Amino acid sequence: MVAPLKVGIAGLGTVGAAVLRLIRKEQATLTARCGRPVEVVAFSAKEVRDPDLDVSKLRRVDDPLALAADAGIDVFVELMGGEGDPAKAAIEAALSAGKSVVTANKALLARHGLALAALAEKKGVAINFEAAVAGAIPIVKTLREGLAGSSFSRVYGILNGTCNYILTRMEQEKLSFKECLKDAQRLGYAEADPGFDIDGHDTAQKLSILASLAFGTKVNQEAVYVEGISSIASEDLEAADELGYRVKLLGVAVRTDKGIEQRVHPTMVPKESAIAQVMGVTNAVSLDVIGFSPLTLVGPGAGGAATASAVVADIGDIGRGVRAAPFGLPSEKLKSNGRAPMQRHEGGYYIRLLAVDRPGTFAAIAGTLAQEKISLESIVQKHRNTRPHGGDDPKSADAPAPVILITYATTEDAVRRALKAIEKQGVITGRPQLIRIEKN
Ligand code: HSE
Repeated sequence: MVAPLKVGIAGLGTVGAAVLRLIRKEQATLTARCGRPVEVVAFSAKEVRDPDLDVSKLRRVDDPLALAADAGIDVFVELMGGEGDPAKAAIEAALSAGKSVVTANKALLARHGLALAALAEKKGVAINFEAAVAGAIPIVKTLREGLAGSSFSRVYGILNGTCNYILTRMEQEKLSFKECLKDAQRLGYAEADPGFDIDGHDTAQKLSILASLAFGTKVNQEAVYVEGISSIASEDLEAADELGYRVKLLGVAVRTDKGIEQRVHPTMVPKESAIAQVMGVTNAVSLDVIGFSPLTLVGPGAGGAATASAVVADIGDIGRGVRAAPFGLPSEKLKSNGRAPMQRHEGGYYIRLLAVDRPGTFAAIAGTLAQEKISLESIVQKHRNTRPHGGDDPKSADAPAPVILITYATTEDAVRRALKAIEKQGVITGRPQLIRIEKN
């Protein structure tokens, strides 16, 4: 009989408990697939919140750092979270002691992934992190192993279930952003600090990991341009619908002639695209693979069972003795990835303005856009009595009317300059809304 793979888990919250249960439930299958039994033998946790979780036969180690270096375990599973200590110190301790690590910690990987990968390589052990990005979707393995023979021009996806849930409900039920956020929190989708989800930071951390895997670059969260969804209004979702688009919070990493552009922002996607079909808390990642048609992986991005599935698969790889370079290439071969300047981003734009409804307004707007060589694909003026922001008297000759512009491909710089000039001309009220368009 081959010796069992002995696992120690730090953190027994929702995911940790689900991992323990899954390993127990699938013991026979895991043993068959790995060629050796997988056994959780020890844990560390501030508290075991689930009273039905049987930990009576496990050794409890108070200090996660002690567990990480414990001679009785082969694999250290870090499920405490947080980009600093104790998670970071514990992972370093485990790797230094020659133990493989499995973690779901996107924040830690986005900031320290390169150094941790280098340490794991030096010690000849694995650091696996499938669960850090898009829950049950095996996107890390897909990029690193399944498509190891391919190159990519673009990787993009819906990586935050909370934002997709909010945007889906706003669109389908015509609810406000605030109402939907409240429901997401009530249902337990949002992170403790909802700003982390809705301001795009959770997506940015996940995107930085995917970009490194796809483009062979050093993971660098600082290189990601980030905008969240809190400025999205019902009018934008309605206008998008009329124009054949949906609005999604996307993380996009794309190869450009200025380097790898990494950006997170609300994005208009064509309604017929695969990514536009993804609703609610579901995640999706689309890969533009060079040489054949794109592929999209869709599935649950969060929750105990989905995340545990990825963690257990990573443990299984260690049991089987499978070890890939954490980011696909040996860490010293990963290239530096500076921040591709967002001002030079090229693409189409949706612009919503509140235009002062009097002769000459359109001429002024069109003239300014023309000066910046911005060409319009469509222009729609809504009837002004829609009164989107209330308060204005629709009978007044000067009441603002919503104007929706869709541009052909241009640069971020040109659009920003044009909008600044339009604001100065006094032909609009309030701040213009700007949403980037991402083509299939
Ligand atoms: N808060 C994340 C989301 C869950 O809403 O998708 C796990 O990353």
